[in-house]
Amino acid sequence: TQDPLSVGMISATVLFVSLLCVCLSVVCPGTQNGLSSTGSQEIQYNLIKDRYDGCEIIMGNLEITQIESCWDFSFLKEIREVTGYVLIAMNHFQEIPLGQLRVIRGNSLYERRFALSVFFNYPKDGSNGLRQLGLANLTEILEGGVQIINNKYLSYAPWIFWRDIISDNSAPIDIQHNGERGWCWVSPISHIPKLSQDTPSYMYGLSFLLSGPCHESCGDYCWGPNEDQCQICECQIACRHFNDSGACVPQCPQTLIYNKQTFQMDTNPNAKYQYGSICVSQCPTNFVVDDSSCVSVCPPDKMEVERGGQKQCELCSGLCPKVCEGTGAEHRQTVDSSNIDSFINCTKIQGNILNIQSWPKELNDLSVFSSLTTIQGRSLYKHFSLMVMHIHTLTSLGLRSLREISDGSAYISQNANLCYHHTVNWPQMFRGRRVRVNNFNNNRPLAECVAEGHVCDPLCSDSGCWGPGPDQCVSCRNYRRDGTCVASCNFHTGAPREFAGSDGECVACHPECKPQSGTSSCTGLGADKCMACTNLRDGPYCMSFCPTGVNDGQRGLIFKYPNREGHCEPCHHNCTQG
Ligand SMILES: *[C@@H]1O[C@H](CO)[C@@H](O)[C@H](O)[C@H]1NC(C)=O
Ligand SMILES: *[C@@H]1O[C@H](CO)[C@@H](O)[C@H](O)[C@H]1NC(C)=O
Ligand SMILES: *[C@@H]1O[C@H](CO)[C@@H](O)[C@H](O)[C@H]1NC(C)=O
Ligand SMILES: *[C@@H]1O[C@H](CO)[C@@H](O)[C@H](O)[C@H]1NC(C)=O
Repeated sequence: TQDPLSVGMISATVLFVSLLCVCLSVVCPGTQNGLSSTGSQEIQYNLIKDRYDGCEIIMGNLEITQIESCWDFSFLKEIREVTGYVLIAMNHFQEIPLGQLRVIRGNSLYERRFALSVFFNYPKDGSNGLRQLGLANLTEILEGGVQIINNKYLSYAPWIFWRDIISDNSAPIDIQHNGERGWCWVSPISHIPKLSQDTPSYMYGLSFLLSGPCHESCGDYCWGPNEDQCQICECQIACRHFNDSGACVPQCPQTLIYNKQTFQMDTNPNAKYQYGSICVSQCPTNFVVDDSSCVSVCPPDKMEVERGGQKQCELCSGLCPKVCEGTGAEHRQTVDSSNIDSFINCTKIQGNILNIQSWPKELNDLSVFSSLTTIQGRSLYKHFSLMVMHIHTLTSLGLRSLREISDGSAYISQNANLCYHHTVNWPQMFRGRRVRVNNFNNNRPLAECVAEGHVCDPLCSDSGCWGPGPDQCVSCRNYRRDGTCVASCNFHTGAPREFAGSDGECVACHPECKPQSGTSSCTGLGADKCMACTNLRDGPYCMSFCPTGVNDGQRGLIFKYPNREGHCEPCHHNCTQG
């Protein structure tokens, strides 16, 4: 015999499952226009319509501003989730159909404070204007506060218990100068209000009726207070953190996992990336992987590269690549005060730049080009690709990174005070087949340069130098650190201790290596190349902490503790907190 009530409950659950587990997510990008509008009403409306028609999740902000009455906004009614803010301002319509909106994440905030901002929604003349905010299903604002001001005819929404909806207790709630008081989201005749948590309540998370805690065995979702009323179909409810194939998880499967055999963090073949609040195994087209997220553009210090068929953001070493137009085009004959700002941070010049016939008096070298490594010489002047002439203030070239002139030759003449260029091994630098004779005339005579001590630093090799000092050498006699020649690396003394890389570069040992005296401290770059560890050791790796709570790509997390010898040993596998 079955209790008729529980049969009712079961069919209600089935109904929920079948109705609500139709898990669709049409994701659309939002906007960042604030109050600026585009053209006529019609254009503005059509832009909004084209953008949001059929959307369920807005990645970014939902902004509806400066729309008069008489437009049909029913295309907004599918929106369930907005990851940024919602701005409804200076419109004249009566109602906005956002009845399905459940979550505003507030990843970006209007005026840096508000996840929901609704203001001045009525015309100066006439009696139109926003009357109800149909946000009956809005149960969570994860970051930021709410601003509802100066909506002359708005009666219901202002009186909602916003503290129940807003997660951040310190977020501002600014509600004033609206219409008369009412207790509901919308007209109470057609809809049921969300009540305060003071009311005896249940159906947390699922319902727009009442709220309250689920049974402790349930997790976050239920449709009643008892143990057998846990909500199994979570997918139609927006996850607080991330949705991994329908399951709500605190983080998406990480890109790096701990490998017990090698004691290293390995790439996780089952990693997923955050795409808004969803975990995806591949970022959608036009999105790029940045660490564990899908982003539309890389952050300023990273550049987009393709690895194994996947576009991802990688840290630039130094400046990020930036190609700039050089001289030679019709509108750009010279570099001068009118265009020099356009060369800031350029890493590559498309066109010409090194035809130098006039130079600031206070500069006595060309060291502004100290990072220039290659002159390709794709277009030549006469047959030259490097020309420096009639610069009397120039005492050295200072082109310390220049290693190759791929085509064309050099014309360096009439620079009365120029030394050091004699020492450079020019033929080694030229790769072009068309190279003819370099033209080096009427610079400072070599004998005078030598007599006055304008010679290469003793730390330079015999390949010459671009100017005075150990940082201008073409190559080093012994070792090099950060572009400057040194007699020796910090092999056995000095801080940090170093080893010599294959090109004679001094490279610092890993910071976890213990400095040794009278012998090397490391044999290479990594934490597994130390002679001894400063702190602890996990397998071959020196580290300051043993791995705690690292994911091994399976279900459990790995915790280790340091034994008396300072070696990391795994905790018993039943330990869940280390
Ligand atoms: C709130 O969501 C439920 C479930 O999807 C839906 O049936 C109801 O119409 C929504 N309320 C409004 C006012 O749209
Ligand atoms: C969770 O993700 C699945 C796809 O993996 C999707 O079908 C479902 O709609 C999502 N649920 C929510 C609440 O976003
Ligand atoms: C140039 O690069 C530096 C360092 O990355 C950065 O701080 C600066 O804003 C950049 N300037 C311009 C104009 O791009
Ligand atoms: C470890 O957990 C298993 C399963 O819960 C249990 O059977 C076993 O007794 C536990 N071992 C110890 C040492 O507590």
